[in-house]
Amino acid sequence: MAVIYDRKNEIIQINTKNTSYVMAVRDGYLVHLYYGALLGEGDHSYFFRTQGRAAFSPRMETGEGFSLDDIPFEYPCWGRGDMRSPALEIKNSDGSRIVDLNYVNCEVTAGKPMPKGLPAVYCEDDSEAETLTVTLADKVSGIEVKLFYTVFADTDIITRRAEITNGGSAKCNILKAASACIDFDHMEFDVISNHGTHCRERNIERFPLARGEYKMASRRGASGHVHNPFMIIASHDTTEDNGDCYGTVLVYSGDFASEIAGNQYQTARHIVGLNPDGFDWPLEAGETFVTPEAALTYSALGFTKLSHNYHELFARRLCRGKFRDVRRPVLLNSWEACYFGFDADRLVKIGECSADLGIELLVIDDGWFGVRNSDNCSLGDWTINPKKFPNGLEGVYKPLKEKGIDLGIWFEPEMISPDSDLYRAHPDWCIHIENRPRSQGRWQLILDLTRKEVRDYLYESIAAILRTGMISYVKWDFNRNMTEIGSPVLGAEHQGEVTHRYYLGLYELLERLVTDFPDVLFESCSGGGGRFDAGLLYYMPQVWTSDNSDAIERLKIQHGTSLVYPMSAMSAHVSASPNHQTGHVTPFMTRFTVAFTGSYGYELDPTALSEEEQELVKKTVALYKQYGGMMNSGKYYRLAGPYDVDYCAWCTVSEDKSLCVAGYVLTHVRMYGNNRRVRLKGLDENATYRDALTGDIYTGSQLMGFGVHCPETLEYTSHMWILEKI
Ligand code: GLA
Repeated sequence: MAVIYDRKNEIIQINTKNTSYVMAVRDGYLVHLYYGALLGEGDHSYFFRTQGRAAFSPRMETGEGFSLDDIPFEYPCWGRGDMRSPALEIKNSDGSRIVDLNYVNCEVTAGKPMPKGLPAVYCEDDSEAETLTVTLADKVSGIEVKLFYTVFADTDIITRRAEITNGGSAKCNILKAASACIDFDHMEFDVISNHGTHCRERNIERFPLARGEYKMASRRGASGHVHNPFMIIASHDTTEDNGDCYGTVLVYSGDFASEIAGNQYQTARHIVGLNPDGFDWPLEAGETFVTPEAALTYSALGFTKLSHNYHELFARRLCRGKFRDVRRPVLLNSWEACYFGFDADRLVKIGECSADLGIELLVIDDGWFGVRNSDNCSLGDWTINPKKFPNGLEGVYKPLKEKGIDLGIWFEPEMISPDSDLYRAHPDWCIHIENRPRSQGRWQLILDLTRKEVRDYLYESIAAILRTGMISYVKWDFNRNMTEIGSPVLGAEHQGEVTHRYYLGLYELLERLVTDFPDVLFESCSGGGGRFDAGLLYYMPQVWTSDNSDAIERLKIQHGTSLVYPMSAMSAHVSASPNHQTGHVTPFMTRFTVAFTGSYGYELDPTALSEEEQELVKKTVALYKQYGGMMNSGKYYRLAGPYDVDYCAWCTVSEDKSLCVAGYVLTHVRMYGNNRRVRLKGLDENATYRDALTGDIYTGSQLMGFGVHCPETLEYTSHMWILEKI
């Protein structure tokens, strides 16, 4: 049993395979007692401790008892003495902001109730998970909160979310509704997060927690390139293989906030959920608001274990559909091959050449629709450009089908170009505020997905192309963030709902499409990785990781991405050299070694390659087809770099430890300083492995104990090992 209720001591304990999470009811409040390594049975009452006194923080009615400012809460509120940041803030019908949640009851059920309209981790069978639901209520206002804790025992993950119901008789407004809160009884932590920008996403930052509030957030109308909706909190000495660390990942694609604060009593409060800035959700009597879900994990064995917990659960119980467990097709994308400079003839040539090299799918990127020859028009007009495609899509599909290569296509459905037939017909369909200018980003505005007629239009436009049966892959892009956020049709009272309603609309549209077109592989993109989040993985099992396709820059991007996202979710392509974004000149095999780490493809014109390079494409396609399947289920290890040393090394090991693919890139040359070895991880120490590329034989214990030599001496050169158990 994953959830144990000690009725006598009013303690609830959740156990996963290696962790425990403990809460209790004290003086009517649901307090947090512990999150950490697995606890055996026992009376945990003594875990509850107060300072006894909280200066200047009034103590309940009598002035006696404990002070709320000093208590670790499960879902804290503001107004009765807890002066820290709350998980829930409500404007009551009388205008006051106070919420006072008391414990009502709890129940345990098999399986997992899913949050309505939102993406979430799921179970395929009720035996996979157990859910604890705790009900809290404010007796005065009638606000009722249900906290859901679902336990995925095998992967050490607990998902949390809340449902807030207005049980009173008048309307109130939710101003903040977090998905989860963890109150720690100390603040001796480092905070680890992703930071970045377009073309430099998800680099890693680590710094010690200080007093005051630190908030990683987005108010961009998207999870964004700048921060990612997860946070890791670790002991100061935690490494890849040792030490405590906690992760919280929000399963959501819009505005989020991940806060952590060091407090006056040397404690820390971590809250994750929707960004409260700008959020205002009116809740009529009897209505319920459902928060997105947060996935929590704890590892006593450092960051690698934490990452593995997320990888395993997200790859298998967040991603869905027929592509979830299989190697993804090796594709070639037309973007860096020709940008807007293509027509059907050129695509057929590229496709035929790709097919000869073994590539399985040609993606027609931006520029096939409306009258679009650059990025300044036609978004919204999702019909084939007859000038570029005189025989329609079929003119490309047919000859390529004969060559055995499938077709994929790019959409940017959520956008509208002011220079488009759609905008001329429906100038009010975009997100906007009446009488204010509409700021354009890349010459485009964002469609108002809170509106059903807009979603229906998009569904029909996309479905018309997919119904032809010619398309087996869709790249779904989103190339600007939101400004002048408003949806006039919703009315003045409801403008604080717009961004969240937008995402509810997007999720509904995606659900319809993935349900109706189960044979299409959807990949999400937002100027690369501007919406690389767990929310979209529920609909689209892979993401274009970054518009920066440079192998050297990708080392940091992929390393940061791997903290919580599975490798199969990470699209990684070999592009031309010199690289179009950075100018770096890198050997072909370095580009391959780096791209092999994710769902694989090419971002170049194969017809422009030398014969020698074409041979390399052939060879690498074949290698990926043979070995790339383990990206869905293999365990990924960050072995070294890329921040602290002049190289980067990693490996992926298949579930049964029979195969390991390891990569090494020398990122900076120090004369005579680069001869080194790297120790691999995760292998069977009693097995013998043969390197499929060189024929060299090693034992598992040698590979993990001594390691492998990395004799490269030239900058940006690399090495790959494909180690098969013999
Ligand atoms: C975005 C994507 C690119 C490409 C272009 C097309 O920037 O990230 O991969 O699809 O749009 O305009």
